[in-house]
Amino acid sequence: MRALGVSSDTSAFEVPAAIGADGRLTPDCARQAVGMIDRYGVVVLTGLLSDEEAAFGLDLVRQTIADPDRNKCAFASETDNRYLRRDFCSLPTSAPVVSFAATLCQRLEGVIGEYCGRSRPLLEVATFTSYIGSSHQYLHRDPAGVISLFAAFEDVSEEQGGTVFVPGTHMYGGAGNHHGGQAYALMELFRARANWLILKHNLAKLRAMRTDAATPLAPGEFRDRVCSSKWDLHQPNLLRFLTGKNAQFSLRDLAPRALWRLWREGAGLDGKFRLVQTAPRKGSVILYRSDLIHAGPDNRSPAPRRFFGMSIARDMIETKYWHDGYSPDPSLTANPLTFGDLLDAPPLPRPASRHLSAVGE
Ligand SMILES: [Fe+2]
Repeated sequence: MRALGVSSDTSAFEVPAAIGADGRLTPDCARQAVGMIDRYGVVVLTGLLSDEEAAFGLDLVRQTIADPDRNKCAFASETDNRYLRRDFCSLPTSAPVVSFAATLCQRLEGVIGEYCGRSRPLLEVATFTSYIGSSHQYLHRDPAGVISLFAAFEDVSEEQGGTVFVPGTHMYGGAGNHHGGQAYALMELFRARANWLILKHNLAKLRAMRTDAATPLAPGEFRDRVCSSKWDLHQPNLLRFLTGKNAQFSLRDLAPRALWRLWREGAGLDGKFRLVQTAPRKGSVILYRSDLIHAGPDNRSPAPRRFFGMSIARDMIETKYWHDGYSPDPSLTANPLTFGDLLDAPPLPRPASRHLSAVGE
């Protein structure tokens, strides 16, 4: 997506994980991570998981994906999921999954605990796999009031494409006062301009896929992705774009007033906002506020891109609103878990000593 001007340099948003003898981030490291989230809406904690923990997590993901009865997620990129361009599915709250989630929550308590109280619900534990031929999602915000986490169990290359973020576009009291009180309006302009380029990118890609033996289209797939009445907010569906039935991006976002503002503000937008694509190394964990503008890009490599994801509410959340943006596994719905439950649950056995040596123990 060169046209989007995405930077792959995430160094400004990274904090190397420093883990104490209690298996948790050191107070100083947690403070740095909280500072990043407050300022940018996102932090990349590098080296948070040991190789053994990453291998354990990857095993959980592989077992879930191999299960023909897995619970498929139904909140985003539905058409990609239907045509196996993506495979989003929830993890059941089995003992190993809960232990793994508990390990993450306990290690990150100094960060997540700044935002989520003990009684706040675990909204989902899921795996997000993307294959070549997937569509680049439109830039969007997820339902507000949530802290989300992505963990990389393998190195993710630029071509595989980690999540794209627009740092600093999260919503908090007074955020709209920036840029002369125009912050939210300018963010929407930036989003509309980027989404126009994403629409063109996805259409060009689908056209190329019609003749590319490496990414053959399934019968009906081209129509479903380009001209269909089927619900999907992240396809280059021209029918829903033209009729205004895509809440993420449609012709309504390019009304004459918006185009006038884009012409006037366009050049200045790049100085105010930037797109950053993560390509996390194995063991890195990305924490972000759900109201930060972001997108799951397409996978431009033949190697699948796999992420583990987990989301915890920062506040009360209506069930319908919850299910609009997250997919709790039926086992989680039947037996809900809170952040406090995960802080009290038994974690994985203590890993290799390399974390301890990082803080001189
Ligand atoms: Fe999202």
